[in-house]
Amino acid sequence: MSEAMLIGTSNRGYAQQAQEELRRLFSPAAVRFAWLAPGETFTFTVELEREEAVRRVLAAEPVFLRHMCPVDAQTSWNGTLEEAAAALKSAMEAYRPFVPTGSAIAVQARKPETETGLPSPSAIKSIIDPLLESQLSAVPVVRQADWILSVYMTGESLFTGLSRPAHNLSDWAGGAVRFRKEDGQVSRAKFKLLEAELAFGLDFGQYKHALDIGAAPGGWTSLLLERGLAVTAVDPAKLDASLVKHPKLTYLAKKADEVVFVSGQFDLLVCDMSWSHRQMTKLVRELMYALKPGGTAIITVKLMHKKAFQTIREVVDDFAGTMTLQQAKQLFHNRDELTLFLIRQ
Ligand SMILES: C[S@@+](CC[C@H](N)C(=O)[O-])C[C@H]1O[C@@H](n2cnc3c(N)ncnc32)[C@H](O)[C@@H]1O
Repeated sequence: MSEAMLIGTSNRGYAQQAQEELRRLFSPAAVRFAWLAPGETFTFTVELEREEAVRRVLAAEPVFLRHMCPVDAQTSWNGTLEEAAAALKSAMEAYRPFVPTGSAIAVQARKPETETGLPSPSAIKSIIDPLLESQLSAVPVVRQADWILSVYMTGESLFTGLSRPAHNLSDWAGGAVRFRKEDGQVSRAKFKLLEAELAFGLDFGQYKHALDIGAAPGGWTSLLLERGLAVTAVDPAKLDASLVKHPKLTYLAKKADEVVFVSGQFDLLVCDMSWSHRQMTKLVRELMYALKPGGTAIITVKLMHKKAFQTIREVVDDFAGTMTLQQAKQLFHNRDELTLFLIRQ
């Protein structure tokens, strides 16, 4: 029987939830796990052809499994660059028949944070990039790759795997999406909404009028204003001074249950309130009349006591009849929370 081994990564502390998703997908008896970085990164082995295993994971749109990459070879090594070079050279030989000349290949090297004695990912990349050119006549790139060559190092083993970027769930190394911090950025929370836009395949520039509930200090509001939307921001706390005079901003210094709008006034509703999920759904449901039918909602959900699956079920139940869940995802920029993409019915 054929078997596929892949490396899975979640946000730190949520690997058990990611593994649970895989158990539910493949049945508990058909998948085995081994830790690489406990709580975060693990190998999973399934009794299926790799293509089929990957197809099933992609189709399931997992919430907690942030990234996966295949394992073509697992080589025992002593943690030196010399051994890495030898293992990677033989990996290239195996890839030569599959990789057309001139292919753009991105190397994504990772290791557990605790493995401080191992070579750095950039040192690994600096020995692979010349090999890509000499062994495969390929072009080393960072983004927009045809293929990703994943390298994962532990004290005992060097794992290598070649895959199409779309087959890794995320084309960022380990799914760690890194945005550049801008001068004067209002809050780091902005990255969450930027990442949600990418993860859910949205373009906020297509919307006209957004309601931002729990908007302060204004990271999400600032992104939506930059995208050209009119934004109504609701929060009893202060918005950043750089935003308040923006001509397309309406700022209501009130709580969510103190505001009234025209029915269907907004085509986008975003909510990033740090409340328990049940209180959040109550407040959002009461404002749902203001989002027009077919409108989009992006909502952060706190995961209390890590009861992740129960929380998702309760939120979906609370919104039943008013909103349909399109996708739930724990984003790289989510901490003890996840992000929902819903459509108003
Ligand atoms: C995590 S912060 C939001 C960060 C924001 N998304 C950003 O990008 O800067 C949560 C906000 O929710 C607000 N909040 C809490 N309860 C609220 C309520 N009942 N109505 C409106 N806002 C509320 C808090 O005042 C706080 O500013």
